[in-house]
Amino acid sequence: MRTSPSGGGRAAVICGLGAWLPPRAVGNDELAARIDTSDEWIRSRTGIRTRHFVSPGMPTSRLATEAGARALASAGLETVDAVVLATTTPDRPCPATAPLVAHRLGLTGRPAFDVSAVCTGFLYALSTASGLIAAGSADSVLVIGADAFSTIVDPEERSTAVVFGDGAGAVVLRAGESAEPGAVGRVELGADGSLTDLITVRAGGSETRSTDVPPTRADAHFSMAGQEVFAHAVTRMAEASRTALADAGWRTEEVDRLVGHQANARILHAVGEQLDVPRDRIVIHLDKVGNTAAASIPLALAHGQSAGELLPGARVVLTAFGGGATWGATALTWPSLRTV
Ligand code: UT7
Repeated sequence: MRTSPSGGGRAAVICGLGAWLPPRAVGNDELAARIDTSDEWIRSRTGIRTRHFVSPGMPTSRLATEAGARALASAGLETVDAVVLATTTPDRPCPATAPLVAHRLGLTGRPAFDVSAVCTGFLYALSTASGLIAAGSADSVLVIGADAFSTIVDPEERSTAVVFGDGAGAVVLRAGESAEPGAVGRVELGADGSLTDLITVRAGGSETRSTDVPPTRADAHFSMAGQEVFAHAVTRMAEASRTALADAGWRTEEVDRLVGHQANARILHAVGEQLDVPRDRIVIHLDKVGNTAAASIPLALAHGQSAGELLPGARVVLTAFGGGATWGATALTWPSLRTV
């Protein structure tokens, strides 16, 4: 599906960027001391060296509020017209987490809602927020991606426990012109529900709660069919990126930075190969944070900005693949932003 938030001249423009990681850093060796894995396996199979975990009692709303506050400061704004939060690990199954985050940011009364598209969540939220601005429903929107996957993975299950980390990233969108740097153009989005079982937490929703059968330990935790997901992720992110490039009218050699969902360095390199984007143009942040699901892209953007990899005027492609299955991509020219 293609959404065209820019319509005529009015478009959502990125004007603020913020990120936050919970303080507790967990290196590969710490995990290897507890489960049957090794620093060598994790680094060679994924590229991850360390990740951050929430401490007991620290919910996703805390991550989202911290990142949101930083994005507002970066934009130089104290208020926005709406808050959209992408997350798969809400504080509670009901209600959504975004209203609480908005309240804590001093935005009580503004519309605030969650978007659930797992690791593609940030791109779905970005598209939704852009649409609010294009339709004139809002002149500014705070878009947050926040997840605490350490709260849903089984800490004893080595295939998932080593790949995920917790964190949050956020951007502020303001109404502007489609030709401006930072304008969010078409967001190419897709989904295939026949792949629901590939990335899932089976228990805890209406499917199991409508029965009296208590969930097994495996069903109560996150599971992922790693190799199958790997193959779909490469194909879908490359396809969606090609569409985003065609929409923007850019050739692949004109791409300055590819910012893909940070699940696995091997996946990002394979996407780069399919697109002919060389490795030195691929933003890699997963070594420091692991797979942070909906937070992955805004955290990588914040890393790219502070590391000087994303310079004003750079041609950037964002792409993601996640549970659902869902996928997406968009192309934009990087704006000049204040780092906080
Ligand atoms: O975020 C949403 C999208 N997610 C993704 O895109 C993730 C895509 N998938 C992946 O990144 C990779 O599939 C993983 C990192 C999850 C796994 O890497 P893999 O190279 O696909 O490993 P595998 O699952 O095929 O397992 C290979 C071997 C197995 O042992 P045998 O059967 O060959 O003896 C596993 O039991 O590695 C074993 N293994 C481990 N060994 C040490 C699995 N996890 C671990 C581990 N440490 N943590």
